[in-house]
Amino acid sequence: MKKLMNVSVLIGSVLLLAACENDKFEEDLPVVKDNVSFALDIQPILSAECAGCHNPANVEPDLRKGYAYASLMEGDEEGIIPGDSEGSELMEMLQRESEDGNNMPPSTPLSPLKIALIKKWIDEGALDN
Ligand code: HEC
Repeated sequence: MKKLMNVSVLIGSVLLLAACENDKFEEDLPVVKDNVSFALDIQPILSAECAGCHNPANVEPDLRKGYAYASLMEGDEEGIIPGDSEGSELMEMLQRESEDGNNMPPSTPLSPLKIALIKKWIDEGALDN
């Protein structure tokens, strides 16, 4: 009987550990509201953090208001995959995991909240909403 208890304590601890690991991962990015809006939530981030470099006088894609959506969606097919933030290269770039070293913005990363909003917007279908 004692042995059986030890085994259940062991299994319990393993399950608890597994749950903690998972929590830790989930904590990486804050939870954001549903129905993220491109116009209200995403464009202001792009205008403030990206359009200084991403404009016609500088580098593509053009991320200014009025141009960013089309310009982001017509680019690299893997760049944004609607509904699949995990597969979207843009998320790798924002999370400093870009394979070609194209982390964006190049110097200071976006705040976790801004990254979470963009991730949610992609997972909700990357709509022009
Ligand atoms: C300080 C200037 C600067 C800022 C700020 C900046 N970028 Fe960039 N970005 C660049 C440059 C330069 C390139 C071209 C890199 C290359 O082709 O090697 C680039 C390339 C890109 C590309 C295309 C990558 C490819 O594979 O062709 C995307 C998408 C991008 N940036 C998104 C963003 C986003 C989103 C932001 C804001 C969160 C941002 N960038 C902020 C300078 C900047």
